[in-house]
Amino acid sequence: MENIFIEHLGFDLDQLFLEFENKRFNFDFIDEFEHRIARFIGTKYALVTSSGTAALTLSLKSLNCDKNSEIIVPACTFPATVNPVAHIGAKPIFIDIEIETYSLEYSLIENKINKQTKAIILVHQFGFPAKYTNEIVQIGKVHNIPVIEDVARSFGATISESKCGSLGLFGCFSFNSMKVLSTATGGAITTNDEQLYLKCKTLRGYGDVNKVFIEAGYNFNIGQFNAFIGILRMNKLEKNIEQRRFLARLLNYELSHIPNISLPKYNSDYVYQSFPIILKNKSERNDFISFLKQKNIKAYINQVVNCEPYFSNVGVISDNFPNSHFVNEHIVCLHWSHLFDQSFINYISQSISIFFNGK
Ligand SMILES: Cc1ncc(COP(=O)(O)O)c(C=O)c1O
Repeated sequence: MENIFIEHLGFDLDQLFLEFENKRFNFDFIDEFEHRIARFIGTKYALVTSSGTAALTLSLKSLNCDKNSEIIVPACTFPATVNPVAHIGAKPIFIDIEIETYSLEYSLIENKINKQTKAIILVHQFGFPAKYTNEIVQIGKVHNIPVIEDVARSFGATISESKCGSLGLFGCFSFNSMKVLSTATGGAITTNDEQLYLKCKTLRGYGDVNKVFIEAGYNFNIGQFNAFIGILRMNKLEKNIEQRRFLARLLNYELSHIPNISLPKYNSDYVYQSFPIILKNKSERNDFISFLKQKNIKAYINQVVNCEPYFSNVGVISDNFPNSHFVNEHIVCLHWSHLFDQSFINYISQSISIFFNGK
C-alpha cells in the first residue's frame, strides 16, 4: 500500500516531514499561516480552525446567537452552511438564490428581517463572488445585522479588488480537499473586529485565556502540520488560481457550441472551485452524471437545504424557492482542480460533446 502512495505522490514524504520537524521547534506555523491569510484577504485578523463548519459555528457563537435567533441563509447551498445554525439551536430562515452566481437574492431579504434576526449568511458559491454582496452588506448596515460570508469554496475570489471574506463582519473559509486552498482539512475566520476575534480565539481552544476558563469552549484547533501545508499551498496560490481560470475559460470555449447547456461565464474575479453546468433538460441529468462517471470525470450536484430530510423536519419556514429548485434539478458541477491540464480539458469537452451529440 505504502509503495502505491509514494509512487503516485512523486516526492519523498519523509523529506517533507523532516522539513516540518526541523522547523517546528522554533517556528509557529499556525501563527504564520494566520498572518498570511489576513494579509491576503485584507483583514486585521485571521484565525485558523479545524474546518469551515467550525469557523461558521465560532462566528455565530461569538455573536451570542442562540435558540431565540433567526439566521438568514440561502435555500440552495451545501448543508454545511446551515448545520452550524442548527447546532446552536437557532432557526435558519431560507431565502431563494439568484441564478448568476447562485447566492442570496438580496431583494427578498428585508421582508424576512425581524427582531429575532441575528445574522445573514451569504455564500460565495463555486468560487464565484456573490453577485449582491455589496447590497447585502448594505442591508446588514441599515438593520444593524452582522453579515457572515461563507467563503468555504471561494478563497481568493474578489469584488472590485476586495477579497471575499473582507466585506462582511466575518469571512468563514474551508480548506478541505475539494477547496481552492487545501490543507487536507481545516478552515479559517477573518474579521476586522478585535473583540470578536479574541472571543472566537477563546472559543476555538477549550474556552480559556491564559489557563483561566471563561467560556465552555470547543476544540476547533488546527494542527501545526496542516498549517505548514497551508503555508506551502499559499506560496503557489496565485499561480494555481490562474490555472483554474485558464482551464475554465478553455472549457467554456470548447463547450460553447452545445445548445443543451449553460456554462459559467468567464470572469477574472472568479476562482472556479467547481465548474457548474446547467442542463436545459433536467430529465437528462441522471444519464449525464452516469456517463461522466463512466468516463472518470467527477461531478456532483448542489442541494436545496430545506428539502434535505433533517431541515424539512425542523419546522423551518417552507417558502417557494423557484430558483433554488430550478438549480437543484438542473445543475451538474464538475470537480475542478489546478492539477488538470489542457489535454484533460479536451477530454472533458470531447466526452460532453459525445453525450449531447449522441442524443
Ligand atoms: C458552502 C460550504 N460551506 C461550508 C462548508 C464546510 O466546510 P468544511 O467541510 O471544512 O467543514 C462547505 C464544505 O464543503 C461548503 O461547501
